[in-house]
Amino acid sequence: MTDRISSGAESLDVVLGGGLPRDGISLIAGLPGSGKTILARQCVFANASSERPARYLSTVSEPLEKILRYGQTLTFFDPVRVGKSVYYEDLGNVIVEGAFSGVLDRTRGIIQERRPAIIVIDSLKALHAYAADSADFRRFLHDLAGMLSAYPVTTLWVGEYGEDEIVVMPEFAVADAILALGSAGVAEGTSRVLQVLKLRGGGFLSGQHAYWLSSSGITVFPRLADAVRPRRPCGGAGADAATGSQAAARGVRYVSGHAPGLASLPTGEYRWCSGAPS
Ligand SMILES: Nc1ncnc2c1ncn2[C@@H]1O[C@H](COP(=O)(O)OP(=O)(O)OP(=O)(O)O)[C@@H](O)[C@H]1O
Ligand SMILES: [Mg+2]
Repeated sequence: MTDRISSGAESLDVVLGGGLPRDGISLIAGLPGSGKTILARQCVFANASSERPARYLSTVSEPLEKILRYGQTLTFFDPVRVGKSVYYEDLGNVIVEGAFSGVLDRTRGIIQERRPAIIVIDSLKALHAYAADSADFRRFLHDLAGMLSAYPVTTLWVGEYGEDEIVVMPEFAVADAILALGSAGVAEGTSRVLQVLKLRGGGFLSGQHAYWLSSSGITVFPRLADAVRPRRPCGGAGADAATGSQAAARGVRYVSGHAPGLASLPTGEYRWCSGAPS
């Protein structure tokens, strides 16, 4: 199996069968407000160090002051690490209509000079607007992916893609992993749902998994039906009994809190337990 890095969210790592592909390209796709940037930040803060920092490249000019202001509403966002192990950079000054060489050169320069463990491009989708045509963007993407694969760096591409774009946009074919953040109708209305559409080199929990966003970032509620991991006992009083020994035997680890509107799940209450494997 491909080596993985933590997504920054333990519950999502369960769905991913261990995490995102290390030194691979992961695409986080979803509509505005679905939590793409929160997830990318969570991953960045979980994996950055001063020796192997993270570089967060923005293609939609966002002032650092605004990034810090919104970031500080999140518990994992440590402003002290910004500029030490997590670097934000606006690619706006190297993006030129009809020419992506500036973006490629800058990205290569960052990798060679800073040796980042992780690079985020938020949003990759926004770069489509600067392509002369679809063939131009395809060429750029090919060059970008080829360059990234030559270095030991984990890349997150973030973009506001709709479902209909998945089959036509070249980034979906190029990415090693694809996470789609969206929503699904349930009895009480809608629920946020996450789906892993692709993950090269390893298994993952298929289907739609509910998630919520809070100041702690993204929390996913893995569907019991798709559990693949060996059993890890919760150890908490009656935790297994609360959800049934059948589910426990399938190896599900429970996530704390109540997942609203989850008609597809057999119980409404999930508890996250971090006990050592039995
Ligand atoms: N501190 C917080 N506590 C709870 N929920 C939050 C918090 N911060 C953000 N959210 C939720 O996350 C949503 C926005 O998440 P995020 O900015 O990651 O979305 P996005 O997918 O990147 O959107 P866009 O495509 O517009 O950039 C908000 O609409 C809100 O529901
Ligand atoms: Mg965003």
